[in-house]
Amino acid sequence: MGVRPVDRETGWRPAMTMFSPPVRAVSPSDPEAVADRLLDASSRRSYDSAVDIDWDAPQDPDVFYLPVEFVSLYGTPMWESMTHRQRVELSRQEVANLLSRGVWFENTLNQGLLRTMLYQDPSAREVHYALTEIGDETRHMIMFGRGAAAVGAQPYRLSTLEARVVQWMPVAYRGVMLWVAALCGEEILDDLQRKAAHDPAIQPIVAQMFRIHTAEEARHIRYAREGVLRRLERSSRWERFVVGQTNGIAGFVLRRIMYNEEVYRRTGLDPKEAMRQARANEQVNALRREAFQSLYRFMTDNGLMGSIAQRMWRHYGFLE
Ligand SMILES: [Fe+2]
Ligand SMILES: [Fe+2]
Repeated sequence: MGVRPVDRETGWRPAMTMFSPPVRAVSPSDPEAVADRLLDASSRRSYDSAVDIDWDAPQDPDVFYLPVEFVSLYGTPMWESMTHRQRVELSRQEVANLLSRGVWFENTLNQGLLRTMLYQDPSAREVHYALTEIGDETRHMIMFGRGAAAVGAQPYRLSTLEARVVQWMPVAYRGVMLWVAALCGEEILDDLQRKAAHDPAIQPIVAQMFRIHTAEEARHIRYAREGVLRRLERSSRWERFVVGQTNGIAGFVLRRIMYNEEVYRRTGLDPKEAMRQARANEQVNALRREAFQSLYRFMTDNGLMGSIAQRMWRHYGFLE
């Protein structure tokens, strides 16, 4: 495979080179101009994990797969009783769990974008950007799936029942809800990945995946925030009320993504007791709340944080 020029910002080689339209001065509320700008950014900075990750790099068995303070049992009595290798194993299983669940979550977002597109003008730049984002996400899904195998873990697959429930999620992603769902998944997990991406103490293969992911997700988050603002301009009071009260369901989904009994079982721990201690772990809960802060402010500023939603986010550990 030919060698591509190195990106000066990241030191990596961009995966794709497409025609870059000239950037024009834009107002954020002009969807075509925003899409134009994001298309330009996509053409300049996109990655392909097949060539941008060194999948065969050696993995030191004593090095953590996540920043240690993000490991769910960090600092608990159970953590104190674990050997170093067992702690490393827990971090490996937790990263495999996150990557596996990232695959189905991105699957639902892609479906949401594709369904919305049925009602849109195929010549619009906005649609072209949505298609580009779907392309980013399909590459991420490959990267995550390959990543779970590369760290030496079995992927965490959905049960048939879970898959049946998850397949209905994209049906609910309509109007403002599509963009809010995207933000809930992308922004909260982005915070963790951003910290991990630049942590020299974790396995390089994981840091590489997170660097690629955060670089491309920055565009998606920007687009989703613009999407919320744009949709709010023409949404009904009823739609704003429903989205504002029900978005706390995302707190439930994220909680399910982050804690998985099977992770503890595979690490050789008592799954029920590990789950109990992990959920009660105030150190890690504080990081979750911190990760939610920016999105919470954005949603509050835009009248999308109703009392029921706030109660749910608090119940699932994302608000104090
Ligand atoms: Fe992604
Ligand atoms: Fe994304």
